[in-house]
Amino acid sequence: MTSPPAGPAGRPGRRLLAAAAGLGLLGMPVLAEPVPSSPTAVPSPVSSTGPTGPAVPASDPGARLYQQSCASCHGMTGEGSQRGPALSGVGPADVDFQLSTGRMPVQQERYSDVHRDAVFSPTEIDALVDYVALFPPGGGPQIPVVTAGDVRSGRELYLTYCSACHSAAGVGATLNNGRFAPSLLRATPTQIGEAIRVGPGLMPQFPANVLGDRDIDAIATYVDVLQDDRGNLDRGGWSLGRLGPFPEGAVAWVIGLAALLLLARRLGSRAR
Ligand code: HEC
Ligand code: HEC
Repeated sequence: MTSPPAGPAGRPGRRLLAAAAGLGLLGMPVLAEPVPSSPTAVPSPVSSTGPTGPAVPASDPGARLYQQSCASCHGMTGEGSQRGPALSGVGPADVDFQLSTGRMPVQQERYSDVHRDAVFSPTEIDALVDYVALFPPGGGPQIPVVTAGDVRSGRELYLTYCSACHSAAGVGATLNNGRFAPSLLRATPTQIGEAIRVGPGLMPQFPANVLGDRDIDAIATYVDVLQDDRGNLDRGGWSLGRLGPFPEGAVAWVIGLAALLLLARRLGSRAR
């Protein structure tokens, strides 16, 4: 379950490593800015080939919504444009994450990494997810099915893989470049799984050999506890009830104290 972050080398693994390398200190290294990929082949206009997900109604609300709200930036067939990256092959998890957290659609060509109310209803989001999945070549991470998991290993995993950017309490933190890792207090278990698999924006992608599906369950369950502890009314997680206060504050405090002790020792030996 917990292979070290470096994992077997592979693109996601390296990205993760690159991200992990700079984390312990003040921020993170400048990961490659998301580059809109330029498609080599423009996919043919969406045909009547059946959707890969649940059936799209005959009137195809997904197509209509896409043409109205997405095509101006992402192209009629998801081929991308100057105003937005290609959507071919990004996968359902990415589309669902972007729409359900209200990141998309953006009004200008400025990306928003803030969690907002979704512009579309869950039904409309499903239709859009299914429609975008029709763009060849398809594939990409599926929307993970997240269930309640082991809160203790969730806490460990969270502190290992997430807290450096999102803070121990899940309230988010400033990275360098004036960018920030957002608060997790509004994220639903599904959105947590999606973010882990997709790696939106500056967040690294965690492939299944680094964080397995049970690990996602555990992390989402722990974030749910963090949300409960914050008494967040806007939260989107399960109601697991209070599993008892977890000493996040205490953990941060102990780490801070350890750092101070180390510093004091170094200063002390230098003085000698
Ligand atoms: C005004 C332009 C604009 C509109 C309209 C827009 N997007 Fe985007 N979208 C962008 C840009 C720019 C990015 C790249 C953000 C980044 O990575 O920095 C993006 C990123 C995305 C991504 C992530 C792509 C990736 O490479 O991981 C998805 C998925 C997405 N948009 C879906 C949609 C959908 C679905 C709609 C319609 C409901 C939509 N967008 C409407 C500009 C737009
Ligand atoms: C290198 C820093 C970094 C690490 C490590 C990281 N994230 Fe993120 N995360 C980000 C950034 C930056 C964003 C904003 C992405 C965007 O929208 O462009 C983000 C966004 C998210 C979101 C969306 C929140 C919302 O409600 O909109 C979730 C959920 C999330 N991360 C969960 C996690 C989890 C769980 C882990 C640990 C497995 C993790 N992240 C590790 C930087 C990080």
